[in-house]
Amino acid sequence: MTTAMNRLQDSVVLIAGAASGIGAAIAKRCIAEGAMVVCADYNLDPAMQLADTLGPSAAACQCDVTDSGSARSAVEFARQKFGRLDGLVHNAAAPSTSATVVDLDESAWRREIDVGLTGAFLMSKYAVPLIDASGGGSVVFIGSQFGRVATTKAVAYCAAKAGLIHLAKAMAVDHAPDKVRVNSLSPGAVATTRLLRRFRDFEAANATLGPAHLLGRIAEPEEIAAAAAFLLSSDASFITGSDMLVDGGYATR
Ligand SMILES: NC(=O)c1ccc[n+]([C@@H]2O[C@H](COP(=O)([O-])OP(=O)(O)OC[C@H]3O[C@@H](n4cnc5c(N)ncnc54)[C@H](O)[C@@H]3O)[C@@H](O)[C@H]2O)c1
Repeated sequence: MTTAMNRLQDSVVLIAGAASGIGAAIAKRCIAEGAMVVCADYNLDPAMQLADTLGPSAAACQCDVTDSGSARSAVEFARQKFGRLDGLVHNAAAPSTSATVVDLDESAWRREIDVGLTGAFLMSKYAVPLIDASGGGSVVFIGSQFGRVATTKAVAYCAAKAGLIHLAKAMAVDHAPDKVRVNSLSPGAVATTRLLRRFRDFEAANATLGPAHLLGRIAEPEEIAAAAAFLLSSDASFITGSDMLVDGGYATR
């Protein structure tokens, strides 16, 4: 894959859930495109290791997106470290529990909705005013094709992702006058450790999940990061309130 241009030169991007998988790939891509990046994650150690490998334009902070004070602190950390904020990516999601609505524990339901949906609300609540004060920018929620089409035994995950897609639209309506664009990005299956909770390796994941995608394979995290960087950049200056499917055609049929 080619890495294009310096579309994010001098902009500051806060990524919630940056320590691994898609979040880490987005952080790398943003740095490659000239941004300064705050890697915020529940797990501080891997976030700090990532920021170390990314160099002086990256910094890490501990952040639990389900906690209002923690979300506020992460935004304040970005302000103190880099003086402004141009982009927010909400990427965090709790491990998904495989269960029907009948079998799912109430606590598992609450955890998935809390991290995946309420977390986006809390991060946005504190980040949008700083993006506004910085002259406008872009918010990107990492959704899923399962926010558009349902799948078996993933009721909390499907509901959280559908909510996230519509939260982006509602925020886009409210904040367009402030030049804050808000979009969601919905991947298909992506080769991250998230899949290794269900499959022994990526080859096995690809063999099972790949055929459900029109392109016949699962994605690499860098393919999702490329689309996120586009939505963060001024190349997407006329895009708000949209859900970008980056799903290899999964939801097409
Ligand atoms: N991997 C896939 O197949 C796939 C497909 C579609 C959508 N997605 C979505 O992409 C996003 C990233 O997925 P991934 O595969 O990279 O998963 P991942 O588990 O590798 O990454 C999730 C990150 O979020 C962090 N996190 C979890 N709870 C948090 C909290 N309370 N506060 C802050 N950070 C927290 C984790 O520490 C981790 O770094 C998720 O929103 C996921 O639903 C993934």
